[in-house]
Amino acid sequence: MATTPNGSVTFTLDGTNRSTKLPVLKGAIGPDVVDIRKLYADLGVFTFDPGYGETASCESQITYIDGDEGVLLYRGYPIEQLAENSDFIEVCYLLMNGDLPNAAQLKEFRKGVTYHTMVHEQIRRFYDGFRRDAHPMAIMCGVVGALAAFYHDNIDMSDARQREIAAFRLIAKVPTIAAMAYKYSLGQPFVYPRNDLDYAANFLYMLNAVPAEPYQVSPVLAKAMDRILVLHADHEQNASTSTVRLAGSTGANPFACIAAGIAALWGPAHGGANEAVLKMLGEIGHVDNIPGFIEKVKDKNSGVKLMGFGHRVYKNFDPRAKIMQQSCHEVLAELGIKDEPLLDLAMALEKVALEDDYFVSRKLYPNVDFYSGIILKAMGIPTSMFTVIFAVARTVGWVSQWKEMIEDPTQRIGRPRQIYTGPSQRDYRALNARG
Ligand code: ACO
Repeated sequence: MATTPNGSVTFTLDGTNRSTKLPVLKGAIGPDVVDIRKLYADLGVFTFDPGYGETASCESQITYIDGDEGVLLYRGYPIEQLAENSDFIEVCYLLMNGDLPNAAQLKEFRKGVTYHTMVHEQIRRFYDGFRRDAHPMAIMCGVVGALAAFYHDNIDMSDARQREIAAFRLIAKVPTIAAMAYKYSLGQPFVYPRNDLDYAANFLYMLNAVPAEPYQVSPVLAKAMDRILVLHADHEQNASTSTVRLAGSTGANPFACIAAGIAALWGPAHGGANEAVLKMLGEIGHVDNIPGFIEKVKDKNSGVKLMGFGHRVYKNFDPRAKIMQQSCHEVLAELGIKDEPLLDLAMALEKVALEDDYFVSRKLYPNVDFYSGIILKAMGIPTSMFTVIFAVARTVGWVSQWKEMIEDPTQRIGRPRQIYTGPSQRDYRALNARG
């Protein structure tokens, strides 16, 4: 990894003669950063950046986003090209290893992932401990974290091969665990993975097949699922990825770290957004109700947000949303769904919002989740599974970022500072003296 020096910034503390010259570092692309590691030592002050909007927490070579231009690159390759030409397993190789594989490398990698698709039989028993109506993300947090109990003592994270096997296990087993969570909610038998199917097709098979009759995976739906996985595979230092890195920075077991990422992803401001989009469209109900809904969104006291709009980094169209919108039309056409009221409603809502000054002035554009929920719904996937599918896709991103962190010689435990605004030191008062 290498940043290059690109000048410096001098900070002077007003009213003192204390100042410090801090290096400015240049990455491969994107804005330069000020290296503040000496700031406290030199000036005795910290930086304050709630939500880390202005703070680079690490050096990374995996994913690059230009939020103003609507660009997303995995290892330098534009997401549009990967969505068009690649498949999820190849993208997994790319994210984990830094470049596209040759044919032999891809074959070996595919085999490496496929070999690990089954889970230990004892894992089946965990499911009995959950209520049938448990949210599948709750089950995911629990069962993925529990993998640590199966692969803990024999993981030596300083060994690159063992890190790779942990990564294979995670990428391979997360869809199996996700499908089992779904089957459990339906009261249907768990379906074992089929290693003769490709990754997305096997996932759909485990979700939809039943032992009583043959099940043929639709190639169109498998392709659509594969594209959803590609689009969600990584997104640089977002909330869940930063959570994985923070947990991993302590040396925690990788399966436990990914469970932490799943927990962070669950929230409606992050991976839970596509579920929230469908709920919102259901509540709006009809195109006629859009103006009233938009007024509510604009009223700060209402607490209502236009779900699927806005992004911390994209201040332009989320490039994934464009691909997803196109994919959405393709899937509906292939499935013969001519009139999908939710899609019509979403398109009308998008049009209104894109012309409204509230959204335009705040640079709020549709994000990937605005359309992904509609595709998943058309594919027959229940709303509660949407975030789970996101977790299946993002596992490779989390694992790649975790690996990169472990392999970074400058890595240290993540430990943010704070500005304390609570009471100053005071003496304990006995209960009868507190009034
Ligand atoms: N609807 C209405 N207003 C919004 C929305 C929205 N979806 N998003 C942002 N705003 C407003 C804010 O109220 C704020 O207004 P103000 O300047 O008048 O106070 C302004 O736009 C800036 O927003 P921030 O809150 O500063 O944006 P932030 O970067 O913190 O939040 C987030 C980004 C969380 C994604 C937000 O846009 C949001 O909640 N969107 C809806 C949920 C969603 O779709 N999440 C998916 C994200 S993509 C992903 O995880 C795959």
